[in-house]
Amino acid sequence: MTSYIRLNKANWDERAPLHAASKEYDLSSFINDPEHISEVVRFDRPLLGDISGRRGIHLQCHIGTDTISLARLGAAMTGLDFSPASIAQARLLSEKCGTQAQFIESEVYSALQAAEPSSFDFVYTGIGALCWLPDIDQWARIVSGLLRPGGRLFIREAHPILWSLDESRQDALVVRYPYFEQKEPMIWDDETTYVDTDGRRIQSTVTHEWNHGLGEIFTALLNHRMEIAFFHEHDCVPWEALPGQMVLENEQWRLAADRHRLPLAYTLQAVKL
Ligand SMILES: C[S@@+](CC[C@H](N)C(=O)[O-])C[C@H]1O[C@@H](n2cnc3c(N)ncnc32)[C@H](O)[C@@H]1O
Repeated sequence: MTSYIRLNKANWDERAPLHAASKEYDLSSFINDPEHISEVVRFDRPLLGDISGRRGIHLQCHIGTDTISLARLGAAMTGLDFSPASIAQARLLSEKCGTQAQFIESEVYSALQAAEPSSFDFVYTGIGALCWLPDIDQWARIVSGLLRPGGRLFIREAHPILWSLDESRQDALVVRYPYFEQKEPMIWDDETTYVDTDGRRIQSTVTHEWNHGLGEIFTALLNHRMEIAFFHEHDCVPWEALPGQMVLENEQWRLAADRHRLPLAYTLQAVKL
């Protein structure tokens, strides 16, 4: 197994139960309220359009909260993730919620073998997904291969300019990491995750990640017969990406001072020709 897959999978397998138990993912609201949808999908809803009756696949679905939310909006959903612990949590949650969603354990780059090609009305992905993939061109090939002609990609993702900033600086926006895709990964060593784990630490701490510039993402989609239908930049993200420099407003984190300096995320829709 390629080393980045082994390392990243081990890391996500440890995170999955911690996330499922966290107040941030709030699984009890999904179980207790059949109309509850995730904060991520609530944000996406105005741009998502009507997905009821549509066949969707959620790439890198993690513990299934967004997949189940999309199912609750009426879509026939499949969630896909390479982490067995994430898929196990997603199936358990789906069962407790009485959702019809399916969950497949697969690496993104093997999705055309794991799910039916050219069969989906939409591919949904986002918020902390692309940074785990080394090759954006091959990702676009998979997305395009999953969609039927006329089907669309919906992605909301952290902006590559945000990924290039030094998150340890509290006094200024400082570029530290590559904006463009590099062959070599950025190597992180971190025993924490983005939710409160009550002091519990991760043992598989090393991960490999990549950035992908906007031009590279657009070019990859165009190369694989995807037409850009919509692109919108946001001044907010759903987690405190730059600690000490952000404020929380309406479930979103924005730059505390002069928020118009920089986009922090984007929504992109592309249609398969
Ligand atoms: C940040 S999470 C996605 C978060 C999602 N927005 C959420 O909060 O539910 C990233 C997910 O990508 C998955 N992942 C990372 N690399 C992958 C790969 N190569 N193939 C499939 N899944 C992958 C991880 O297992 C993890 O569940």
